[in-house]
Amino acid sequence: MNWKFHTPRFAADDSPELPASFIAGGAWSGHRRFAYDLVRFTRPRTIVELGTLYGTSYFSFCQAVKDAKLDTSCFAVDTWQGDAHTGQYGLADDTMYQAVNSVNAREFADIGTLLRSTFDEALAAFPNGSINILHIDGYHAYQAVLHDYLTWLPKLADNGIVLFHDTVVRLPDFGVYLLWGQLQSMPHLHFEHSNGLGVLFPKGCPEPFQAVLQQQEKLAAHYRSQE
Ligand SMILES: C[S@@+](CC[C@H](N)C(=O)[O-])C[C@H]1O[C@@H](n2cnc3c(N)ncnc32)[C@H](O)[C@@H]1O
Repeated sequence: MNWKFHTPRFAADDSPELPASFIAGGAWSGHRRFAYDLVRFTRPRTIVELGTLYGTSYFSFCQAVKDAKLDTSCFAVDTWQGDAHTGQYGLADDTMYQAVNSVNAREFADIGTLLRSTFDEALAAFPNGSINILHIDGYHAYQAVLHDYLTWLPKLADNGIVLFHDTVVRLPDFGVYLLWGQLQSMPHLHFEHSNGLGVLFPKGCPEPFQAVLQQQEKLAAHYRSQE
């Protein structure tokens, strides 16, 4: 297995615009190093994230692209208005979007693009078969995550990867775990820490990844210890 465990320094950690409670201590924080290693391993052309908030996940993808000098474009799609699970951020309060935009412009200007829209509206910006890594982390009700998966699946490239966050959360109205359970016939990895992260190969699993899938326990132990 050629998978490499890097020790990145995340620019987001040194960005005063971003609250550390979200970036280094939030629900997604325990997956940042995996996301970073995944991007360096797969060297994707296009990464699209559905649901960005303060950018914990998004900036870890961008960091890997920057450090490895990859020719990768990263897109963050969010209304930055919140949803029924995160709460509404408030139309008059643009603080979150401005913070993410500021860090994106300073640290990742040639890499990252923020698309401030609904996920459905952003679909038209991407040709079918064009996305190599798709991260689905929007509203977590079952019908919502199912809708996001089905509407964006045509955009995924052959051998593309879909990431799902909150796969182990069993709170009322959370249904990612239900969808994740229905997708188990396809090649996948799963991390149970930090609310759970599913890594799915719905359009084929390339040969270099076959060996990685065999090392699920080793990877899980490593990233769990980094939480
Ligand atoms: C769970 S948060 C994302 C967390 C983020 N990935 C992180 O690393 O912290 C979900 C985000 O998705 C956005 N969202 C939910 N449904 C959406 C939709 N249909 N269109 C656009 N944004 C949406 C919300 O505004 C919210 O900021």
